[in-house]
Amino acid sequence: MSAGRYAFGHHSDRRTAAMICFLMLLLQLQLSISAGVIEMPSYSWETQKDVNAQRDAHAIMEAAFSSRSAYERLAYMTDTFGPRLSGSTALELALNWTKEEILSDGLSVQEEPVKVPCWVRGKEYATLRSPRVKNVRIAGLGGSIGTPNGEPLIAKVLVVSSFDELEARKNEIEGHVVVYNEEYEGYSTTISYRLTGAQRAEKYGAVAALVRSVSPFGLKTVHTGSSNTASIPTAAITKEDAQMFSRMQARGQDIEIELYMEAHTLPDQMSRNLIIEIKGAKEPDEVIVFGGHMDSWDIADGAMDDGAGAYVCWEAMRLINSLGLKPRRTIRAVLFVNEENGAMGGQQYYQNHVNEVNLTSIAIETDEGNFSPYGISFSGSDEARTLLTNMGQELLAHIGAGNVTGDDYGTDISYMCEQGVPCGSLKTLDPRIGDYANNPCLGFSNPPYPEPDMGKSAYFWYHHTEADTIDKLSPEQLQHCAAALAVWTFSIANLHSLLPR
Ligand SMILES: *[C@@H]1O[C@H](CO)[C@@H](O)[C@H](O)[C@H]1NC(C)=O
Ligand SMILES: *[C@@H]1O[C@H](CO)[C@@H](O)[C@H](O)[C@H]1NC(C)=O
Ligand SMILES: *[C@@H]1O[C@H](CO)[C@@H](O)[C@H](O)[C@H]1NC(C)=O
Repeated sequence: MSAGRYAFGHHSDRRTAAMICFLMLLLQLQLSISAGVIEMPSYSWETQKDVNAQRDAHAIMEAAFSSRSAYERLAYMTDTFGPRLSGSTALELALNWTKEEILSDGLSVQEEPVKVPCWVRGKEYATLRSPRVKNVRIAGLGGSIGTPNGEPLIAKVLVVSSFDELEARKNEIEGHVVVYNEEYEGYSTTISYRLTGAQRAEKYGAVAALVRSVSPFGLKTVHTGSSNTASIPTAAITKEDAQMFSRMQARGQDIEIELYMEAHTLPDQMSRNLIIEIKGAKEPDEVIVFGGHMDSWDIADGAMDDGAGAYVCWEAMRLINSLGLKPRRTIRAVLFVNEENGAMGGQQYYQNHVNEVNLTSIAIETDEGNFSPYGISFSGSDEARTLLTNMGQELLAHIGAGNVTGDDYGTDISYMCEQGVPCGSLKTLDPRIGDYANNPCLGFSNPPYPEPDMGKSAYFWYHHTEADTIDKLSPEQLQHCAAALAVWTFSIANLHSLLPR
């Protein structure tokens, strides 16, 4: 009998019912005490796990660690096709090659058409004219327009170190190029300068906005990325140049710059998500979905961001398939397009699969680097989090990839997450910058689930730059990421029921 169907009349009936409930509870308590057991919650890893979970996890890891497939393929793809901005031929060629390779693994792959924006950088340069002549490296920000009338513009520079300073000096901005020399305080915070810097400066009559690259570290690297639509051109400059402009201004030196940009937006074009699927043997309509994105910025080979993410998902599917493992539920890896400047791939996937929202056990994205995996974040219920924590402990602790940490998730899957699908991200550490799990100087964030501060990761040294190339990645770490994702997704697919909401 469910409480919802028990209709109470008036007060005394209700009191009687409450008394009966209380007595039943006492009886139950006594029974479990006398039987000497602590009652298990009905939904737990112990009650939900597949009998072969450990054996299958070991088989996946063994197969993963004896291969270099993800790295070899990613190296080929990034070397051969290069940067893959939405709307480019290189992206389509890379998708074609990837699709053929997936088929050659004996996997099934579907193409899901997606309409994507098409922004084109064209030629661009900046030259400092005063107090000395010098080339200023720039990278136009995605979505920017070009300089007016297809000509260079020449203007004085005004440097600010924050939006507060911009407001304080709003009367001096008219006719100037505003340079933002903001301190890096973590990607998700400091990105607001890249996104809204031009919009805020144009309000006060700026003719262009140059934004210090959003990164914890630079070797004169320029980091592009998307920016909100504005009526003035906007580009990233190096940390070094931004700081030099600040010093010049502090000395009272006149700074004059020449800026030329051809950036423009063409009509939308058709591209596609690639969807690799292994049908569920028992519950084919219930799905576990995970993915990364195939597009990259136009100046970056996009090995880290996010060719690696897309390819470790594919590699996870290859491993499950090559071992002949049959998941209870359907497992789907989505190689999304257009994460960088529009997220139309994620949106299209959501729209095409909206009827599956309640049948999607979990969605996992990997778009934060593919170094040594230490677990996943998780945005669902506490009950599901506890189960996953126990699952990770039993199946992935010995490679250290079984932690369940914060509650963030990636852009491509966000449409599903916002509709209540439990979501997560693959979490990895870059050992190049030391043992930052145990180094307090490198910071921890995201209470109540402390984890290394992603903003300090070497991922953001290279992200959206020409330096995002395959040599930053390791074949072993990519296979670890693929193994971790294969074990997480396959084991969740094999639980007796869907993860509880
Ligand atoms: C990708 O493959 C399709 C199907 O073979 C072909 O029609 C298309 O032209 C290819 N794209 C490019 C950019 O070559
Ligand atoms: C999903 O479940 C919720 C809650 O039970 C329900 O309101 C919603 O209509 C369902 N959506 C679909 C697409 O079935
Ligand atoms: C959690 O991460 C730490 C640090 O990388 C690692 O030592 C530990 O083994 C991981 N735990 C699990 C359950 O994987």
